[in-house]
Amino acid sequence: MKKAVAIAEGVHWVGAIDWDVRNFHGYHFSTHRGTTYNAYLVVGEKIALVDTVHAPFAKEMIERIESVVPLEKIDFVVSNHVEMDHSGAMPELMSRIPKAKVFCTQKGKEGLSRYYGGDWDFKVVKTGDVLHLGKKSLQFIEAPMLHWPDSMFTYHPEESLLLSNDAFGQHLATSERFAEESQELLHDVLDASAKYYANILWPFSPLVLRKIEEIVGMNLEIKTIAPAHGLIWGDPSKILEAYMRWAKGISKKKAVVVYDTMWGSTERMARAVTEGLIETGLSVVQLRASVTDRSDIIKETLEAKAILVGSPTINNDSLSTLAAFLEEFHDLKPKGKMGAVFGSFGWAGGAEKKLGEALKASSVEIAEPALTFCYRPDEEELEKCREFGRRVGAAVEA
Ligand code: FEO
Repeated sequence: MKKAVAIAEGVHWVGAIDWDVRNFHGYHFSTHRGTTYNAYLVVGEKIALVDTVHAPFAKEMIERIESVVPLEKIDFVVSNHVEMDHSGAMPELMSRIPKAKVFCTQKGKEGLSRYYGGDWDFKVVKTGDVLHLGKKSLQFIEAPMLHWPDSMFTYHPEESLLLSNDAFGQHLATSERFAEESQELLHDVLDASAKYYANILWPFSPLVLRKIEEIVGMNLEIKTIAPAHGLIWGDPSKILEAYMRWAKGISKKKAVVVYDTMWGSTERMARAVTEGLIETGLSVVQLRASVTDRSDIIKETLEAKAILVGSPTINNDSLSTLAAFLEEFHDLKPKGKMGAVFGSFGWAGGAEKKLGEALKASSVEIAEPALTFCYRPDEEELEKCREFGRRVGAAVEA
């Protein structure tokens, strides 16, 4: 029998671990280490379930709930977010407890009705509304566009616990429930959180910043943040610091070289450019676009100051892997980056122009004119690639 895990006085994790999922959002986001769908049961005189799980895991969630209380004892279901990984189990759950009241935002009600057509007893809530469970309570904080219009957080003041849904979460399937259970785990959780932020929340950074400031202004004591994916933050200071850094677009002295190659010439250039960058003392990551998952590349760019892109020319354009990466990078609305372009060509160039335009369209400041060579770069030209890397590195250090 699947069992609940107590995470605070009267609060139980009743979610599910999806060890096998390897992609999310239509292959937009790779989940190499699976994920969890976190649902939380808050037990007072009245009982509330905050969020549910992806539909295939409904029975697992119900089993965990029933390890604490019979299902029919649930009075309230809080839906912090409509997306199906958190609401997919609602139809099965509500068919078993049809009288439970469903608390969500107005957009949440609209979304749940559209997806499931459930004739449920909706209670629309706004920021500051409180649901009393007897001596305990839940307080709602709307969080529109973090990351859907319906999103909200639920705060449980008696345990200083913020149930933040997608925000502060990570796609990571683990046997542990708290991020701080070991240093190694904490490192992995922060890394997975960066990937989550970069690929999902990055374009909403101004809203993330405003929401954190709003919560700080509400003077809520927050000892624990329990997101709807991955590990719970028993000490939220590290993830809050990271979110502030990411939302403000604060970069590290780091460069990412993203390239692809046809017959090895641009690869030779990329290696030399990377050597030059390393010589300047930057932290450098070199990634070949065709063999690296795009959501992993995006994660590496989150805190990098410099983004260097390289491609050979084909039909006066770059290889499609670079175009696809830069299109996604653009949509994430990065700020405060600098960049440069390099690549090889045969009889006509063109890739460097397209790549440069794409970087500029993403508000990337071009640090150096594009560097291109015909066919295979010789030793002298490779040294020019190193110098190119050194100059970009010096610009980052400046
Ligand atoms: Fe984890 Fe927006 O769903």
